[in-house]
Amino acid sequence: MYKLLAMDKQINIQEALDWYIWAGVTETCSDEVCAFNKENQPVIPKTSVSVGRPSAPVAQVQASGALALSSSTALKNAKDVCLKATSLEELRKLLENFDGCNLKNTAASTVFGDGSNKAKIMLIGEAPGADEDRIGKPFVGRCGKLLDKMFTAIELNRADCYITNVLPWRPPGNRTPTDDEIAVCLPFLKRQIELIEPDFLLLLGGIALKSVMDCADSISRTRGKWLEYSISSQKTAYVLATYHPSYLLRSTAQKSKVWADLLRLKKKIEETS
Ligand code: URA
Repeated sequence: MYKLLAMDKQINIQEALDWYIWAGVTETCSDEVCAFNKENQPVIPKTSVSVGRPSAPVAQVQASGALALSSSTALKNAKDVCLKATSLEELRKLLENFDGCNLKNTAASTVFGDGSNKAKIMLIGEAPGADEDRIGKPFVGRCGKLLDKMFTAIELNRADCYITNVLPWRPPGNRTPTDDEIAVCLPFLKRQIELIEPDFLLLLGGIALKSVMDCADSISRTRGKWLEYSISSQKTAYVLATYHPSYLLRSTAQKSKVWADLLRLKKKIEETS
């Protein structure tokens, strides 16, 4: 759900509607139709929107924010910014003030990680969905509820974990993030891993696997196998990738594979503690 933006009476309602559709707005939160302030908003790519309806499904429309920096400058800025953070709270503030990713232009919240900064298990998903964007916390919607149940089943709960996403901003209409968007957000995720120093990383889905492990192999071939992630010269985390809960909500037949992966995680935690 999005708050519609401030009314500028000079703006054509159709233009505003096109912009909302392009931005992935799926619900309104009031009966009043408001328009947007043209000067401050990203321009809709001409090729991606026809009058009144997106020319392609929203999920396929690529974002291009006028406020976003060029991707190489943004990536360098992101890396420089992350080096300054000596705590999660500092990193959160730096991320909230970071303007190098176009996704921030269309998201309602910056969804930072949640959980103990001493957690031994870190869960990494893809990106906030509509509920997470509205509430400002990761995995609070349907996927989060399923995740909670899965963790309860192996006698772990959120208090034992730190949970975050590759991207802190919801892609419009939940489309797949672009490689540039992932690259520019990755330094913030990697800094979270360095600051928490978890023993275990559980990667939820293909985007988390590809981003964290720089792994070109598919999630179906990689899930369930133990990998390692070097956090620093002194610390290496065990890594397990599994299917994303949103995939399980669509393909319930895969639940048994995730169950097997969680049992693997539980066994490893017991063996190493
Ligand atoms: N899906 C994700 O990958 N992350 C969330 O926070 C919610 C849904």
